Formats: sequence, structure tokens, C-alpha cells
Amino acid sequence: MSVDAVRSLAELIGSSQPCVVLTGAGVSTESGIPDFRSATGIWAEYDPMEVASIWAFERDPEQVWEFYARRLGVLLEAEPNPGHLALAELERRGLVAAVVTQNIDTLHARAGSVDVVEVHGSIRTSSCRACGLRVPLADVVARLPVPACEACGAVLKPDVVMFGEPMPEPELDRAVALAREAGLLLVVGSSLEVHPVAALPEETLAAGGKLAIVNRGPTPYDPDAAVRLDGSAGELLPAVVAALSS
Ligand code: APR
Repeated sequence: MSVDAVRSLAELIGSSQPCVVLTGAGVSTESGIPDFRSATGIWAEYDPMEVASIWAFERDPEQVWEFYARRLGVLLEAEPNPGHLALAELERRGLVAAVVTQNIDTLHARAGSVDVVEVHGSIRTSSCRACGLRVPLADVVARLPVPACEACGAVLKPDVVMFGEPMPEPELDRAVALAREAGLLLVVGSSLEVHPVAALPEETLAAGGKLAIVNRGPTPYDPDAAVRLDGSAGELLPAVVAALSS
């Protein structure tokens, strides 16, 4: 771990407010949840178009639920890791204004982050596309492997954004506004390959804000980052909090 880079990031957070954080699956791998595009990622094993697209859900909801039932098993076991906890601490200190997350695992909220914008939805609920009934996670789990609507019998859909679906407008609008107003956008654990979220750094930079990246491996925005830490979020983020405390 580069002590200088950690200190540079700490100083940047302190001097470039408001700081908005954008997270991806990489912030949750140390909670036991695989990411998508690293060598051990989910998309190395599954075709997202077959298990995580709205077309697959409409064609074969049972196949999609077989994938999500497995994912739910992992997500329900997961606990926030030191990376999530560090971001919640930075919010408590008034150094992080909000966390925009692509993750559906609810771990930021469980870690204590208050202002969390879930741009890809979450596993908290599933909904019936036929009659609109919304069902909490516990009831969905009780009805696995293929949760059906108790009102009309249709197969429920997880309230997560699947490929081919639009992102929730309010969350996307808020994420763009936060990125535009950010003095610093801190990206943690995302390959920044999936749009429109991957364009948020551009919003910050175009509005005169700065970019920092904490990620294992490269991202397309690395050349634009004022500070870049290549490594584990669960180690680096607590080190940044410690540097801000000294
Ligand atoms: N610390 C830091 N970075 C990590 C860690 C870690 N512990 N573990 C993994 N990473 C990095 C990976 O190397 C990768 O660059 O996090 C990044 C995760 O990228 P993706 O797997 O592409 O995940 P994400 O960017 O969140 O994907 C965006 O794509 O499939 C859709 O809906 C899905 O929300 C997801 C979206």
C-alpha cells in the first residue's frame, strides 16, 4: 500500500468538498460477494443476457430466478466490510456527502451510510409486473425458487435493474446532480464499463470537479484521476480514514 497515495487521497477528500462516492461490485467482494468482470467475476460463469436481462426474464423467468436464488443465498450471508464502514465513517465526519452505488446488496446502508443512491435498485423487494404488488425480501425468500405473486399468481421480478431496463429516473437524476456538484468524485470498486453510470465521472470533470479512483485493476478514467489507488477497498479506505484522523 502506498502511504503517499493514501495521504494524497486523504488530503484531496479534505480539500475538495463536497465529496461524492460512486461504488461498484468491487467494494463488496471482501464481503464474499463476487464482482462481475474481474477474472473470478460472475460474468465469467454466466451470460448476463441469459440470466440478468429483461428479455431473459420475460422469456424464462424460472431460469432468471435460478440465478437470483443463488445470488440471494450469497447476499443474505454477506456483512458490510471495512470498506463500507470507512465510507459510513467519512459520511459521519461530514467528508462524504452521499454514496451512489451500482450494488444491489444494501451493504452501504447496513454499514451505516445514510445518503445512499441505489441506481440499480436492490434486493430489498421484488414486484409483480402484472398487478404491481411489492413483496419484501423475507417473503420472496420464503417463496423461492420461483416466487409467485400471492394476489395474481404471476412470477415476481426482483426490484433490480436488469440489462435492457431503464434505470430508476429519480435515482439517476440525483446521481447526475451529485456528480455535477461534486468537488471530488471518489470511485471505489467499479470497472466503469456500464453506462449511464460510467459517464458520471465525465459529469464531475466537465463541471470542474476532480476524480479519484480506488480500484483493483484499470478503469477507462484512470488518466483523468487526480489520485489513483490500485488495491483493496477494504484495506485502502480505512487507511484513508486513519490518515484523516492523524
Ligand atoms: N477492492 C477494490 N477493487 C476491487 C475489489 C476490491 N476488494 N474487488 C474487485 N475490485 C475491482 C475489480 O477489479 C473491477 O475492476 O472492482 C471492479 C468491479 O467491476 P465490475 O465487476 O465490472 O462491477 P461494476 O463496475 O459494479 O459493474 C457495473 O454491471 O453487470 C452490471 O449490474 C451490474 O452493477 C453492475 C454493473
